[in-house]
Amino acid sequence: TQSTKRQRRRWIGAAHYNLFALSSDQVMVDMLTDSGTGAMSDRQWAALMQGDESYAGSRSFAQLKQVVEKISGFPHLIPTHQGRGAENVLFSVLVHKNDWVPGNAHFDTTKGHIEWRKAQAIDCTVAEAYDPSHMAPFKGNIDLEKLEATYQQAQTEKRTIPLVVLTLTCNSVGGQPVSMANIKVVSEWCQSKEIPLILDAARLAENAYFIKKREDGFQHRSIKSIVREMCGHAQGMTMSAKKDGLANMGGFVALHDEKLYERCNTYTIMFEGFLTYGGLSGRDMSALAVGLDEATEQNYLHHRVGQVAYLGQRLADYGVPVQQPFGGHAVYIDADDFVPNISREEFRAQALAVELYIEAGIRGVEIGTLLADRDPLSGNNRFPKREFVRLAIPRRVYTQSHLDYVAESVKKVYDTRNDAQRGYAINWEAPIMRHFTVKLQKIKSL
Ligand code: F0G
Repeated sequence: TQSTKRQRRRWIGAAHYNLFALSSDQVMVDMLTDSGTGAMSDRQWAALMQGDESYAGSRSFAQLKQVVEKISGFPHLIPTHQGRGAENVLFSVLVHKNDWVPGNAHFDTTKGHIEWRKAQAIDCTVAEAYDPSHMAPFKGNIDLEKLEATYQQAQTEKRTIPLVVLTLTCNSVGGQPVSMANIKVVSEWCQSKEIPLILDAARLAENAYFIKKREDGFQHRSIKSIVREMCGHAQGMTMSAKKDGLANMGGFVALHDEKLYERCNTYTIMFEGFLTYGGLSGRDMSALAVGLDEATEQNYLHHRVGQVAYLGQRLADYGVPVQQPFGGHAVYIDADDFVPNISREEFRAQALAVELYIEAGIRGVEIGTLLADRDPLSGNNRFPKREFVRLAIPRRVYTQSHLDYVAESVKKVYDTRNDAQRGYAINWEAPIMRHFTVKLQKIKSL
């Protein structure tokens, strides 16, 4: 809905400068997330009409199980209400107090589920991931030396590593992909230590597209065969189907090992629902089965990842500092470079996100100190390596002219960036995952 700057200034104040607290009517272009915000296709809507809502043994479950097995090779399926439900079920079995869970920059709910169990998530991403201007094809990769060092230290400190999580693409460092070569060496390393490798597969199709485009030997392979090979290196996956499932809601765990699947079942029934529906309606499982098939098609991905690159390139052409190369689902604006005058203690990326909303009604999200939460032990703010504003692109929703509007609006804010001096202070925050509900107050300029 169209609005004026004056209205938006009032609305964001009433929302305590938290973009999550705005109603969607107060937003003109919504780039808060690509999660569940895509448009379903005609085939998906048709599948939805044929959902089987049986409590046990639903046909829709059988459809979904078949598609997941075809795409991933994993024969055991646990449907869940969304990705974090999948994490909750699997981690209830695998993760215990004092454990260490290494991976490539875990997503915040993943980290949340690990820390909730008083275990630790250890970031082993390659160093170049945190240099936004460094051009490398696979900045989501795991640094094997860091992984090995983590293992050695875990041995010394008598910590267990119950699994390694590999996030494809790696959302927390800019939707950056992981190469097949890296998946393979991490998998071999895990095997040598008898540690299961689990994929956080929310954006696995986008990851496969980058492998096809950037890695030698994959140019002539189909996306589906690349996805299958990626999954073949792992013992299982957790999935937020709200991304590359092209669904508005849903998720699942898919596993190779029957015994692990059986151990999950108690938690599935306790937290999600009976084994053949988990957290989902029959119709949702049917639509998801079709969505997974569509998301792993080259034509769709060409348009999808192309939109992200188009917006990214327009911003880069204006001189706006953005994470490069562009990721699969979003453009990440580097707030450290954009508004260096605002201190990190005053949440500079949040300040930039709010400014962009006031200027143009565009809602992005802070991926910085607010999101990083406090250190659970010391209670101090945890400053991540970079402060970003993420502009996520919903799937099959916006046109090129929307993206042009966004690019021109960011440019306007960029031109006046030196006016911004002060950021925000926290009035109220939750003990974990604070960024969703935090209440902020603007710090007055001197
Ligand atoms: N893993 C990754 C890599 C994610 O990006 C997300 C969600 C999840 C797991 C959790 O899945 O939301 O279905 O429970 N990311 C969203 C985002 C919220 O905006 O990036 P969920």
